[in-house]
Amino acid sequence: MDTIKYQLADSQIPTTWYNLAADLPVLSPPLHPGTGQPATVEDLLGIMPKELAEQELTLERDIEIPSVVRQIYAQWRPSPLFRARRLEKLLDTPARIYYKYEGGSPAGSHKPNTGIAQAFYNKEAGIRRLATETGAGQWGSSLSLAGAFFGLEVKVFMVKVSYHQKPYRRALMHSYGATCVPSPSTETAAGRGILAEDPDCPGSLGIATSEAIEVAMNDPFTNYAGGSVLNHVALHQTVIGKEALLQLEMAEDYPDIVIGAAGGGSNLAGLAFPFLGEQLRGGRRVRVIAAEPAACPSLTQGKVAYDFGDSTGLTPLLKMHTLGHSFVPPAIHAGGLRYHGIAPLVSQALEDGLMEARAVPQTRCFEAGVTFARTEGIVPAPESTHAIRVAIDEALRLKEEGRSEAILFGLSGHGHFDLTAYEKYLGGELVDEGYDQELVARSLAKLPQQFGSESADSQVAGS
Ligand SMILES: Cc1ncc(COP(=O)(O)O)c(C=O)c1O
Repeated sequence: MDTIKYQLADSQIPTTWYNLAADLPVLSPPLHPGTGQPATVEDLLGIMPKELAEQELTLERDIEIPSVVRQIYAQWRPSPLFRARRLEKLLDTPARIYYKYEGGSPAGSHKPNTGIAQAFYNKEAGIRRLATETGAGQWGSSLSLAGAFFGLEVKVFMVKVSYHQKPYRRALMHSYGATCVPSPSTETAAGRGILAEDPDCPGSLGIATSEAIEVAMNDPFTNYAGGSVLNHVALHQTVIGKEALLQLEMAEDYPDIVIGAAGGGSNLAGLAFPFLGEQLRGGRRVRVIAAEPAACPSLTQGKVAYDFGDSTGLTPLLKMHTLGHSFVPPAIHAGGLRYHGIAPLVSQALEDGLMEARAVPQTRCFEAGVTFARTEGIVPAPESTHAIRVAIDEALRLKEEGRSEAILFGLSGHGHFDLTAYEKYLGGELVDEGYDQELVARSLAKLPQQFGSESADSQVAGS
């Protein structure tokens, strides 16, 4: 029998997370927007517990995973690595295609890998409530799950367009005991300000993040929990790549190409960073490709600059590829990819030539998603279809060149709550949305000057 899936034992769940910051030659630290100086652990304490603030800034390579977190991981980890044999056959490609499937977690994606860790540290610190943003609802439902496990209240600001597109994600959050409101909302000054300017604003991850941070800053027992972008989130996701390294060893193979969908960058980081770490320490070279939406192309069209992680300027300044924190992306169905920036570590890896990026339009992604569902059986999350699109394109290129290489991509979640989008695609109703270049230009013009008035006037989270 041909091997289809590579399974590890529970005892092989990684005991440490891997921190790429330890191996990157150049790093640009987050800055306090008031002083322009590197942010300190103390600067972050108003919205996150000490352990997470330390993880955000540490240069240590290996960070121990608490045993309580590992025990909960054991419910869905180690996640399976699949060889996509039926897809390979359909494409008639000499490429060997592998995918690491994170959709088997209770919430259906990679997001609980960090949700559980963040809830654990917050509970230990005596926090009672977590506030967060969510796009398509994958992160919101993952944090809601974590809140249920640790007895924490969870308040989710869900991007308005997704709130209406994905009602069952909302219901899932409620079932876990969380509350969920559409963003921009009237519950925060940030939301009210945006609604006053644009009552029909569809929302964005940046806006929802502002609302969640504002709630956290105004209550000492509420912290903010981020679903992506931040260093500690990328760190927690590295269990994915660490497991994949072992599973490919079982397959007696090694990837030539590693591909992940890129929204804020966390699943891509989680899968690719352990491989990049091997490479940076003298191991084999891999091509890493970030697959981003053509409608929100921060990596391929953005500017590298210090910018805010949210829309109203409450976060520290992060050095990253950005379309500008005030950019509101078109309402594509991959709601988790509608983010103006990208994780600073992913951004740095691209700058350092350790990574490539490719922008793909949504109809070509749904086409790849349907092909995948019909060959491998799993209906992928719209976000994950971006990685599949690029994997298929690479496999077809290898076919043309008559070369066999190993491709590994991240199947970051299932699309069971996204079937309305599939119905629309199958009914020919989905269109490709470009991004409004003028809007991006205007948004980039509002980038904070490092010591300029915009940043100096901003309030930094936690200070
Ligand atoms: C299934 C899935 N994949 C990918 C993403 C993109 O986020 P990130 O780039 O942080 O992995 C999301 C975000 O919500 C998601 O739900």
